[in-house]
Amino acid sequence: MMKIFVDTAMIDEIKEAESWGILDGVTTNPSLIKKAVDRLDGVSLEDYIRKILCTTHGPVSLEVAGSTYGDMVSEAKELYRKFNPINDNVVIKIPVNTHMEDGDDNFEGIKAIKTLSETGIPVNCTLVMTPNQALIAAKAGAAYVSPFLGRIDDHLRTNLGLVGGKDYPKDAHYPDEIAERGREYKLIELLDGKDLGRIMYRDEDVMKVFDWGNDDGIFSGVDLVWSIKEIYDNYGFETEIIAASIRTARQVRLCAEMGVHIATIPFSVIEDMMTHHKTSQGMKAFCKDVVPEYMNILKP
Ligand code: E4P
Repeated sequence: MMKIFVDTAMIDEIKEAESWGILDGVTTNPSLIKKAVDRLDGVSLEDYIRKILCTTHGPVSLEVAGSTYGDMVSEAKELYRKFNPINDNVVIKIPVNTHMEDGDDNFEGIKAIKTLSETGIPVNCTLVMTPNQALIAAKAGAAYVSPFLGRIDDHLRTNLGLVGGKDYPKDAHYPDEIAERGREYKLIELLDGKDLGRIMYRDEDVMKVFDWGNDDGIFSGVDLVWSIKEIYDNYGFETEIIAASIRTARQVRLCAEMGVHIATIPFSVIEDMMTHHKTSQGMKAFCKDVVPEYMNILKP
């Protein structure tokens, strides 16, 4: 069954989703915690996190703040020691790569994942942007990997300069046109560069964008998730994929169609998953048509 996590640190949202019986876990990150801190209302952050842990039976991801192997391991151990005894549901989020500046080590995150996994602390490897990062994280022992599909769509859309350049709403559908161009590019690559007579898809700019990050032909965020799933299925990795950075209900549906293990979804997108104007229209019509005779039958 596909598991649904809510991507928030807002306790009212977690409670509400839990009350619907659909919630399997929670993911937080420093930015989401920052938003929640503004609403603490006199409660300490430590107590607030304790409340979150008790609000759901499922795993709750808490992220480290450090960017070196030593800092991340010690923070992870501290978070786990402090909070896991409360409801036995803490997962530690470690960035796949903490590299920020030239010269930074690319493997601090991976080393931390290995150490923590060996000590029995479950790790959610975060900020995954390529299938290769996901492959390495799984080999290092991550219990979960979180590919950020929305941020990959943002990147591709912005760099391709389509649909209004950088100005598009956060919940805009990732345009099929871009995905289509990417698919063609991938096909050309698979066919070893043979010309399919569709020259327009071979334009240099597009190829540069899809090659970003030394990756090999990812043409959308959903494609990133698909590629990771293929790799994990090929080798029987037990690492669970959490489709993250989700912006739209359509992305959730595409992930469900490919059989992804988990989607971590903002509360507003879970709401979008339930709405359809024809459902509302149908409700109005049915309510209008209820005859008094039928109402009488329904009375206890
Ligand atoms: C996932 O683990 C992150 O908390 C989250 O999905 C990031 O989403 P964003 O790209 O919308 O910030």
